[in-house]
Amino acid sequence: MAKQIRYGMVGGDLHAFIGEVHRKAINFDTRAELVAGCFSNIPEYNVETAEAYCVNGSRVYDDYKEMAAKESAREDGIDFVSIATPNFLHYEVAKEFLSHGINVVCEKPLCFEIEQGEELVKLAKDKGLLFGITYTYTGYTMTKVMKEMIAEGKIGKIASVSAEYAQDWLINELSPVEGAQENLSVWRKDPKYSGISNCVGDIGTHIENYVHYVTGLKIKRLLATANTYGHALDLNSNIIVEYENGVNGAYWCSQIAMGHLNGLVVRVFGELGSLEWQQEHPDYLRFTPKGGAPQMLSRGDGYIKEKAGASSRIPVGHPEGLYIAFANIYRNFISALIDKKNGKDVSGADFPTVSDGLSGVKFIHAVIGSAKNNSSWMEL
Ligand SMILES: NC(=O)c1ccc[n+]([C@@H]2O[C@H](COP(=O)([O-])OP(=O)(O)OC[C@H]3O[C@@H](n4cnc5c(N)ncnc54)[C@H](O)[C@@H]3O)[C@@H](O)[C@H]2O)c1
Repeated sequence: MAKQIRYGMVGGDLHAFIGEVHRKAINFDTRAELVAGCFSNIPEYNVETAEAYCVNGSRVYDDYKEMAAKESAREDGIDFVSIATPNFLHYEVAKEFLSHGINVVCEKPLCFEIEQGEELVKLAKDKGLLFGITYTYTGYTMTKVMKEMIAEGKIGKIASVSAEYAQDWLINELSPVEGAQENLSVWRKDPKYSGISNCVGDIGTHIENYVHYVTGLKIKRLLATANTYGHALDLNSNIIVEYENGVNGAYWCSQIAMGHLNGLVVRVFGELGSLEWQQEHPDYLRFTPKGGAPQMLSRGDGYIKEKAGASSRIPVGHPEGLYIAFANIYRNFISALIDKKNGKDVSGADFPTVSDGLSGVKFIHAVIGSAKNNSSWMEL
């Protein structure tokens, strides 16, 4: 039986990092089929990836513009495109597919310029198209539990937020090691491909999105440092934020934090309790009620079955991980797409949208702008 949804992909050849994660995540739920692609600007990689996924040669395109035009003209054309290219292509590829009436899922950061992001928000709205952003970490079950607990008042009024994202994969940028192999994702260090930021754009935006998702807080202004260590772009950044309700938060992101691999940690402190979630132990959420002992809540236990628990796929104690977080974002996006086809209202769908992507771009500009202006306050 044919799948309900057809999709295509731009970027994400077999040698790339995240494209394969997208495809595997989509495959967890069996409703969408990969039928078209422009997986790489390197022709051999493009064909090789298509063959690995049994994509018919007639729907493997050398150029994403040709793909958008031809797919939109087919009766059995793709319902959505997934964009997993380096940052510099996100805006132009997304715009091309939206203009041809095709729904989009795009990697973060959404684009380089705020005006470009605003244009994409408007285009998606005007065309009535869905536009998801793969802010991965909002897909975890315990992230959703955290969001629900905060909304239910379990920690009371929020008093402070502390969040960090620590990696060390660019540690050699501090003191070069002779003969060390360049990482394949080296484009992240080059403004031409990455934009005005490396570290803040790549991982700081995850913090910004995550905190907003779980707390609902919106950043009003921020001040920041951004350390480049003599390189073109930032590798480490410290950020103080002020939310619209006057509460403060402190964020830190780093690619030179020796000994840290993918350490996204978010702590929210309220008047009645606190919550802490760590990406490297995603099935757990530390909850400390005022006057009580810290408790380690775990995914899939009875107390979370009803709502967030729906994101949990296998019994607790069996680690799920990043693929399922990604799969949850895609499951919700694809459900919304099916509902929309059936004329249902999808305004309450739970996946990051192009507006969240735009917030991320504003965040990047504010952080880099502040750092370049003696760490002065920048309004978002
Ligand atoms: N959500 C997350 O957690 C997460 C994780 C990693 C990366 N990302 C984002 O995903 C994007 C890709 O990152 P990556 O690490 O996979 O990069 P990568 O360098 O591993 O892969 C980039 C892919 O884009 C393809 N490409 C380049 N130019 C192209 C063109 N003109 N047409 C078609 N394909 C083209 C390359 O062939 C390659 O397949 C980035 O924007 C990054 O910020 C997000």
